[in-house]
Amino acid sequence: MIDTERQAFGVYVHWPFCLSKCPYCDFNSHVRHAAIDEGRFTQAFAREIETTAARAPGREVTSIFLGGGTPSLMRPQSVGAILDAIGKHWRIARDVEVTLEANPTSVEATRFAGYRSAGVNRVSLGVQALNDASLKQLGRLHSAREALDAVAIARQCFARYSFDLIYARPDQTPAMWADELALAIKQAAEHLSLYQLTIEQGTPFFGLHAAGKLKTPDEATARTLYDVTQEVCAKHGLPAYEISNHARKGAECRHNLVYWRGEEYAGIGPGAHGRLDINGERHATATEKRPEAWLMRVEANGHGVITDDVLNREERADEFLLMGLRLAEGIDPRRYKALSGRAIDEQRIAVLREEGAITVDPDGRLRVTQAGFPVLDAVVADLAA
Ligand SMILES: C[S@@+](CC[C@H](N)C(=O)[O-])C[C@H]1O[C@@H](n2cnc3c(N)ncnc32)[C@H](O)[C@@H]1O
Ligand code: SF4
Repeated sequence: MIDTERQAFGVYVHWPFCLSKCPYCDFNSHVRHAAIDEGRFTQAFAREIETTAARAPGREVTSIFLGGGTPSLMRPQSVGAILDAIGKHWRIARDVEVTLEANPTSVEATRFAGYRSAGVNRVSLGVQALNDASLKQLGRLHSAREALDAVAIARQCFARYSFDLIYARPDQTPAMWADELALAIKQAAEHLSLYQLTIEQGTPFFGLHAAGKLKTPDEATARTLYDVTQEVCAKHGLPAYEISNHARKGAECRHNLVYWRGEEYAGIGPGAHGRLDINGERHATATEKRPEAWLMRVEANGHGVITDDVLNREERADEFLLMGLRLAEGIDPRRYKALSGRAIDEQRIAVLREEGAITVDPDGRLRVTQAGFPVLDAVVADLAA
């Protein structure tokens, strides 16, 4: 059972550096050829944690997520110092989930035991593909063997781990994907994140795709790949609990549930987003994205926040729909009404239900169906209108 009773509070910490930039990635990640002053960055993280905790005091932290970028490039002592700063300024739940995102190279896997000693209790590995040709095409720095070895080390070091794969890659057929997925499931204990390759504007893949040099599966094949994903995972006891995330019952990533359930979280580090409830209002915060500019802001002002918007009722309700409908558990329309001040249009619910895009539970909960997930944006837009 997913815990829905307790007040959740997540802390997201963004480490913005990578060894090289993958050609499909538009995350806030940067490559630096000179050495990074990790100690100085770590102190800035601690400082921003202190300032944020002063704005949002008294919370009990139920999850921490060190994401990137490539946080597995950090020294275990730096991770320990960041976790200590969180523990100094907030109360930490006894069963806190502490996830670190890691790239599965052999060098990074040697740090796993150190991360565990520092307080990390879950890793999320960016495996991406289980064959070397695809890894090369994705511009990855590790081989499939190296990635599987890193998964094995993760299994020894942590009670909980997950890994990511990207599908709908160039030339990938549903049969090839079904085989790869079956192999992945054998290696995955409890959780897998399976993302359809998105061609993001501004990335090298975008240019190649536009020039016809990178052919991704057409819409019908992408749909079949999605269906294969659902079937193979469900058959092996890893049903989707979110549009791209699969887990055994009880093994869902608690930190990501904070986002999807519209709960509160602090965003620390360059380009991190937060949602903080201050004086009864929900604040959407975002920090400076450029790492060195963020560092200077934190050193000067104690924080790198450059956007701090109070969300109005409509914005809160729209965000609640957009995030909540990604989850298999769906949303309670009464919460939507409480947030926006108006109920979701019954007529629209009836039409989407007839089209097979959503279901309505006896208690009124709305859930998007497997047929509805591939057109989720349209479903959300319809319900929010
Ligand atoms: C921001 S990355 C950080 C993880 C880590 N740096 C790595 O690459 O292993 C998180 C995940 O997003 C996914 N991802 C990034 N860009 C993507 C894209 N364009 N399409 C699909 N998935 C993507 C990858 O699966 C990746 O593991
Ligand atoms: S996918 Fe991961 S390693 Fe590659 S550039 Fe993005 S954040 Fe860095």
